[in-house]
Amino acid sequence: MYVPPRFRGLGLGRQLVAAALEFARSRAGIKIVQLTVTRGNASAEALYRSCGFVEFGVEPLAAAVGSGYVSKVHLWCDVDPAVKSALPTS
Ligand SMILES: CC(C)(COP(=O)(O)OP(=O)(O)OC[C@H]1O[C@@H](n2cnc3c(N)ncnc32)[C@H](O)[C@@H]1OP(=O)(O)O)[C@@H](O)C(=O)NCCC(=O)NCCS
Repeated sequence: MYVPPRFRGLGLGRQLVAAALEFARSRAGIKIVQLTVTRGNASAEALYRSCGFVEFGVEPLAAAVGSGYVSKVHLWCDVDPAVKSALPTS
């Protein structure tokens, strides 16, 4: 997802994530939504976490960028109330 710089900080990114989650919740059988964010992208990571996404791992050196590599943080959000109760407690 991308919001042009001049429109950032206005709540558009949050609306887009909320709309995607609302769409997922409206579809029968969808239990979770997953995404990745480049490690160090603080604004995107803060947005996703504030929308209910939780980290479940980091993929090291996930993508080659220029002469180096970036890692990807993997996050998930449950969109089915039954999912949390099905998770193991330990
Ligand atoms: C990440 C991005 C989509 C956010 O869009 P946005 O419209 O500016 O976001 P919003 O105004 O809806 O902000 C929602 C939340 O994001 C977080 N956030 C947004 N900008 C932030 C910043 N500069 N620093 C820290 N957190 C930030 C905050 O948690 C914010 O909630 P708050 O306003 O209650 O504090 C936008 O910065 C962007 O397009 N970045 C470049 C592309 C990119 O990195 N995409 C993500 C790829 S995984």
